[in-house]
Amino acid sequence: MPPVTLPGWIYHDAAFQALERDAIFRRTWQLAGHQSEIPNGGDYLRFDLLGESAIVLRDAAGEIRAFHNVCRHRAFQLLDGPGGHCDRLIRCRYHGFAYGLDGSLQNVPGEASFDGLDKADHGLRPIAIEIFMGLIFIRFSAEASGPSIAEQFAPYAEALARYRIAEMMPLGPATTTPINADWKVAVENNIEGYHIPPAHPGLQRLFGPHYRFETAPLGASHAGGPLRDASATSSWSERHYLNLLPTVDHLAPEQQRGWFYYAMFPNLAFDIYPDQIDYFQILPVAPGRAVSRTRAFALADDRRAMRAARYLNQRINRDVGREDVMLVEGVQAGLASSGYGRGILSGKESRVQQFQDMIRAAIPLADSPAPPLGGGGQDLEPTPL
Ligand code: FES
Ligand SMILES: [Fe+2]
Repeated sequence: MPPVTLPGWIYHDAAFQALERDAIFRRTWQLAGHQSEIPNGGDYLRFDLLGESAIVLRDAAGEIRAFHNVCRHRAFQLLDGPGGHCDRLIRCRYHGFAYGLDGSLQNVPGEASFDGLDKADHGLRPIAIEIFMGLIFIRFSAEASGPSIAEQFAPYAEALARYRIAEMMPLGPATTTPINADWKVAVENNIEGYHIPPAHPGLQRLFGPHYRFETAPLGASHAGGPLRDASATSSWSERHYLNLLPTVDHLAPEQQRGWFYYAMFPNLAFDIYPDQIDYFQILPVAPGRAVSRTRAFALADDRRAMRAARYLNQRINRDVGREDVMLVEGVQAGLASSGYGRGILSGKESRVQQFQDMIRAAIPLADSPAPPLGGGGQDLEPTPL
C-alpha cells in the first residue's frame, strides 16, 4: 500500500487555517525580501501574512531590522503599501507618536498627559530576523524556536554560495498572482516533479530523463538537474536559450547548464538558474485561496547573450507558471468533492511526503479523516467566555 496523503478537508477549512497560522506561519522563518530591495537607510519593505504585518527596514547605520507594523498607542497600522522610504522617523497618522528607525519611541504629542509614561517601554516590538545569502527572513512569534535558516539550508549552502546571491540586484519588480487554491496545494505542486512529463512539455524537453530530487533533514529539499542540448527541443525559446546561455565563470560545471530548485518548509522555493535566480513564495490568504509572490535577481552582467538568455528564461518559465496555476486550481476544485478523501503518493513525490509529514508534526489534527465533529471544524477555536 503506498503512503496516503493528508485528507482533503484541511485544504478548505477556516478553523484549520487558524491552526496553521499559529502552529506554522507565526513559528517558521518567512522570506521578507532581499537586502538589495532596501539599499539605503530608511528604506523599508512591508510583509503581511494572515493578520500579521512586519516592517523590515534599514536603519541609519545600515543595519536591517524588523518590527511589528503596529503603533504601541492604540494599534494603528503604521506603514502601508508594499514598501518605501521613511526619513528619520516613522510617524503614526492617528495621534502622531513617532518612532526612530531603531524602533524607539521618540516623540509623543502632549506627552505629559500620559500618566507616568516611560517612552523606553513603548518602542516598536521587534521581530526576529536572519539574513542568509542576502535574503531577509523574519519570524513573527517571539516564542518560536527551531533551527535557523542557515542550519536548514546547510546541506545546500556550498552549492548555493557559488551563485553569489547576496551580491545580486532585482531583475524586475516583485509580482504577486492570486491563486484559487489553498497554499498547501500550490506548495505541493511546486515541490513535485512527477507531473512534469504530462503537464510541462517545455520542462520535459529541457530536462529529459535528467530531473532528480531529494529531501534534507530539516525541511529543505532540492530538485532539478542538467539541461539537454538545443537539439533536444524544437521550441524557439528553448533552443535559443540553450544556444545563447553564456558561461558564468564562478559557477561549478554542473551549474553552468543546470536548473535547480530548492524549497524550504513551509512555503518557500528558490529557482536557481545560471543566468538568474528567483524566490517563489506561496502566501495563504483564506482557506482555499493564496497568492504567489515572486521576484527575480541577478548579478550585473551586460553581455548581450546574457540579456537574451534572461529574457528567454522568463518566457519559458511564464508558460510553466501558467500550467501550474491550471493544475493547482484543478486540484482545489477536486478537493471539494465528497468523492475524494485522501490520495496516495508515489516515491517520485517524496518531497510532498516530507511536506505533509511536517504539517502532521506541527498540527496532529491534520491526519484526522474528517473535521472534528464533522462540521467544518468550527469548534477548534476556544469559545470565548
Ligand atoms: S494609534 Fe498611533 S498614535 Fe495613536
Ligand atoms: Fe509544475
